[in-house]
Amino acid sequence: MKPLVVAYKPLPDDVVAELREHVELVQVDNAAALTKSLANAEGAIGASLKITPQMLDSAPTLRAWSTISVGYDNFDVPDLTRRGIALAHTPDVLTESTADTVFSLILASARRVVELAEWVRAGNWQRSIGPELYGTDVQGKTIGIVGLGRIGAALARRAALGFRMRVLYTNRHPHPEAEAQYGARRVTLDTLLAEADFVCLQVPLTPETQHLIGAAELAKMKRSAILINASRGPVVDEAALIQALRNGTIRGAGLDVFEHEPLPADSPLLAMKNVVALPHIGSATHETRHAMARCAADNLIKALAGTLRENLVNPQVLEPARAQ
Ligand code: DGY
Repeated sequence: MKPLVVAYKPLPDDVVAELREHVELVQVDNAAALTKSLANAEGAIGASLKITPQMLDSAPTLRAWSTISVGYDNFDVPDLTRRGIALAHTPDVLTESTADTVFSLILASARRVVELAEWVRAGNWQRSIGPELYGTDVQGKTIGIVGLGRIGAALARRAALGFRMRVLYTNRHPHPEAEAQYGARRVTLDTLLAEADFVCLQVPLTPETQHLIGAAELAKMKRSAILINASRGPVVDEAALIQALRNGTIRGAGLDVFEHEPLPADSPLLAMKNVVALPHIGSATHETRHAMARCAADNLIKALAGTLRENLVNPQVLEPARAQ
């Protein structure tokens, strides 16, 4: 008998077909239906939903969960591990398109692309613009990348090779390849904040990175600097950011993620011309979202077969010997 799997996000047709070759697939579209279907499921696949230990209490047969995302802050990983549930994610396939999103935020914020496009649309373009609407250069400036993982390194490549930028970074470990190929320099967070023209947050959300950037950190940035966040909203203390933008502590912000998503329409951030706000589109291209769904489906099929060796968040569940 094929194992029962619950999908809680719409999947491309070819991915559904692939899954159906290996599993019995149930598709649901809300948290309550997911929780109910987990009662006799062995696997689950989806994204963008907080999965609580309580939801798993009624899932005694569950063995594998495949999230269609690189981030796994929607899960209590130690709890999954205790229950013997393997968690797989989708790194690599989204690295380049997510780095493109970060760079589009850098360019849009620096060159005031959204603000000026709205200005043209509103019929304000009567003569050539003056200095009050000029932007600031990106090429040749200093980028500070907080967290040099896969996406951070792809961003460093764009910055150094495409835009001749000086690259500073913070990371738990040095990144010799980025240092050799992009001239990246590992510095303390304080140095990065003090020297970068663009501070780009590329860390996962963990208890250590929650509110990593608050009032004190924003105050250490240059007044001309721009904060870019396409990692997770809670990495920034949003109230402090709003205050810093109001006070002119920093020049602006390019944001793809927020403390509460969807961002409420009455957020003060949306009234600020020096803020570019996107609806968490990091990896949202047709090609990449398809690749992520396929990767997640492959991960799940292999995890249920006990053969998954890559993309595992808690490898000790499937390969206890190797993880010790
Ligand atoms: C990811 O893959 O983690 C993206 O941010 C979507 O949540």
